[in-house]
Amino acid sequence: MLTAAAVLLSGSANRPLAEAIADYLGLPLGKAIVDRYPDHEAHVRLEESVQGRDVYLIQPTSPPADAHLIEFLLLADASRRAGARRLIALVPYFGYARQDRRDEASHPIAARVVADILQLAQIERLVVVDPHSPSLEGFFSIPVETVSVVPTLATAVRSIAPPPSVIVAPDLGAVRLAERYAAELDLPVALIHKTRVSGHTVQVRGIMGDVRGQAPLLVDDMITTGGTIEAAIETLLANHCRPEIVVAATHGVFVAGAASRLARLPIQRGLVTDTVLPGGDLPPQFEVVSVRTLLAETIARLHADHSSSRSIAAQ
Ligand code: R5P
Repeated sequence: MLTAAAVLLSGSANRPLAEAIADYLGLPLGKAIVDRYPDHEAHVRLEESVQGRDVYLIQPTSPPADAHLIEFLLLADASRRAGARRLIALVPYFGYARQDRRDEASHPIAARVVADILQLAQIERLVVVDPHSPSLEGFFSIPVETVSVVPTLATAVRSIAPPPSVIVAPDLGAVRLAERYAAELDLPVALIHKTRVSGHTVQVRGIMGDVRGQAPLLVDDMITTGGTIEAAIETLLANHCRPEIVVAATHGVFVAGAASRLARLPIQRGLVTDTVLPGGDLPPQFEVVSVRTLLAETIARLHADHSSSRSIAAQ
């Protein structure tokens, strides 16, 4: 368990998750006011001392990503100025991670820009859950701790009847993720060749692997508009899979009508986690698996490692 030398702070992006983590660790969530001035500028005030303490700042940069990012930066700055000893960022869902390369010469690398901004806040370490791509780590010069919910979601999938018989990656980017599920569940992998036409639209070019007569488990790092899952399911049905489709994704962002889009599809069960605050727009077939234990144990481990290295250094 954590000592008084640690304090957990949360912005407004996912307070229930931060509270659940604090509860697991046996600590009250640190007191901080996070609200808005009438002109919508973010306003933050710490209401307890962080002087000489290690601050664990929990804030996914989920929609609205820009507003949640600014809240994070203000909490970090307030903590530093109030004398925090160390600042550790837990960003369970890392917004902008998909913009990790330039598809055209006129594009920025937004993930890199966000990484640079976070580092300006003088965080010492970043914890993320199943980021969109491993390339995210390379944008940081501080240690990045990646934790994965794949084993947790795979355990939840095992209890589904009838069980899936093939793992499906809905695009090339999801192949490594699909392989990790396949290793957990000892199942073969099929791959859909998808290209993105716009933020809302994707196009499927083909499928590799045999899905005829199989019950698919579609896996992805995130669901945003639901377009990728919808296109994948249409392709699977056209290729004569069984209409018993299970979907597992780490981050359930669910925007732009995703819930009603997915509600219409023959999804038997859907699993997402609470890295993004689950709202009223969860599709009816979906349930939420919490990352609270995973993140609480990560915090406890990081804190214990640091405390023991400090006491060794002091000897
Ligand atoms: C893309 O590369 C990601 O892994 C997801 O497949 C994608 O972001 C999901 O977005 P949407 O639900 O809008 O298709």
